[in-house]
Amino acid sequence: MGSAFQFTLNGRLTAVEDWPANTTLLEYLRATGHTGTKQGCSEGDCGACTTALVETNGRGERVFRAFNSCIALLPMVAGREVVTVEGVGSCAQPHPVQEAMAQHYGSQCGFCTPGSWSPCSRPAIATTSRVRPSSGTS
Ligand code: FES
Repeated sequence: MGSAFQFTLNGRLTAVEDWPANTTLLEYLRATGHTGTKQGCSEGDCGACTTALVETNGRGERVFRAFNSCIALLPMVAGREVVTVEGVGSCAQPHPVQEAMAQHYGSQCGFCTPGSWSPCSRPAIATTSRVRPSSGTS
């Protein structure tokens, strides 16, 4: 038997209907085209499936908490807000942090690389980036 609820995904209210309650958030994301979120270990260790869960802190400010989608059941996000890498930037319009990480080989692990910050391959971002002047003097 499935469940029916809504949650906000990358800023859009999303209706979830007839998905088995034991579906992981990762399975749902990938099945609905959010393939920037990757599957690696499937046990919460590698970070390839990292999304951001948006919460409110004690001062009423929005805060983003890393959320491993491979170990989260889909119904756990009912009424909540989730951001995937597609909600951060794209190959055509990378977020400045994504662009900087690509330009300077800044990623090290699953949290940074497939999970949160890489909407596409480094060369794809590099070709969309501005050419910066050298900081050196000659
Ligand atoms: S797939 Fe490795 S932490 Fe989720």
